[in-house]
Amino acid sequence: MSNSLIINKRIGTFNKSIVVAGDKSLSIRWVLFSSLANGVSKAKNLLISQDVLAAIKAIRKLGIRAEFKKKECKIYGKGIDGYRYKKNIIIDAENSGTLGRLIIGLLINTTHKIKLIGDQSLSQRDFRRVSEPLTKFGAKFKLFKNKNLPLTILGTSNLKPIKYVEKKGSAQCKSSVIFGAMRSKGVTFIKAKKSRNHTELLCKYLNLPIKIKSKKNYDFIKVEKVKTIKPINYNIPSDISSSAFFIVLTALTVNSELLIKNVNINPSRTGIITILRKMGITIIFKNQRNYKGEKIADIKIKSPKKIKSINCPTNLNSGAIDEFLIIFLVAAKANGISYFKDLDELNQKESPRLKWGQFILNQMGIKTLSTKNSIKIYGNPNLKIKKKIIIKNYLKDHRVFMTSVIAAMSFGGEWQIHDKDSIKTSFPNFIRIIQTLKK
Ligand code: S3P
Repeated sequence: MSNSLIINKRIGTFNKSIVVAGDKSLSIRWVLFSSLANGVSKAKNLLISQDVLAAIKAIRKLGIRAEFKKKECKIYGKGIDGYRYKKNIIIDAENSGTLGRLIIGLLINTTHKIKLIGDQSLSQRDFRRVSEPLTKFGAKFKLFKNKNLPLTILGTSNLKPIKYVEKKGSAQCKSSVIFGAMRSKGVTFIKAKKSRNHTELLCKYLNLPIKIKSKKNYDFIKVEKVKTIKPINYNIPSDISSSAFFIVLTALTVNSELLIKNVNINPSRTGIITILRKMGITIIFKNQRNYKGEKIADIKIKSPKKIKSINCPTNLNSGAIDEFLIIFLVAAKANGISYFKDLDELNQKESPRLKWGQFILNQMGIKTLSTKNSIKIYGNPNLKIKKKIIIKNYLKDHRVFMTSVIAAMSFGGEWQIHDKDSIKTSFPNFIRIIQTLKK
């Protein structure tokens, strides 16, 4: 039971200001880019969570020094070819799809055998989506059941450029191929369905040989072999995906207001903002600024009198992909039926999230109608839960845990939510921040 949380009281009205943890996508990318830089890179506000620490452990296995001093992390890069490969290296991506999928792209240029493993959740996720395009560069892979971890990388020093079309809207697949292209002679052409673009923005900031043309639904990206990467001093902004839980808690709590400071509002990540605004929630970006190619702002949220239902446009899916569970809670309180579709990618996460979203809503007494990639949510503006709800056995998925906590705090009932430790992967101080909102 020590690893579960009991909540039996709704949160009261609040008007506060908070800072949430550093951006996970940027933190992992900073670690990987810095590991290949010529010299020492420094980061402030790096997310200290299991996923990012797994990235640090991974580069240490490759002979790169990394150290933490006070609130700063330093990585001592040894250049683009600076990895040292010992015999039988095993990289453990633990729970992190981003680390697992991105790092493979960086490792296809060595002839040393490298094994990639992960925890139970990651071992059930699809890795063929990255091994397939990376094979075209000339690397070879052995995957468990042709699809999963453990996976062995059999690289080559003679990588050839490729043409690749990414149709899922997966930034992990796109980034893995960009990394492969950075290692290959010649020009790689990528046509990628729009998805988060932190990798491309970092490449641009570092003046790496990358060109991007943006069209309506796709980006056309050209990447050439990278010769050197300069060290990157980075002050990581806060994560909009972590902010999302507090944005929704505010939206669902009467007469409340919240300011979340210094959040990365990269437009490829703000799907939740567009969706919630369409549902009638007031969200204002204050103090907008640019930082090394990324957009940053303080986010102000006010709880609405009424929440509108939504027929969610599918072009918002990729930019909100990590936020659907928490968005479903807003739909639960909306006036009318909300409809979310084409959500195949939601079942490719740490757990099958469409299934878990539906389970949580049904436990709350909300009617849903779903197919394998869509869900209709029959909102109830007067929803108040009185019963006992247990959430368990969902595999290590931090977002299932945090969504359940927000549901409990917003709608009442007596909740027992298992696997509290799952938040350590992305947002270790989640519960501490919740406490600061209570009077
Ligand atoms: C991420 C991309 C997304 C997202 C994940 C982080 C990234 O995954 O769900 O949490 O940092 O590139 P997909 O690219 O598989 O959609």
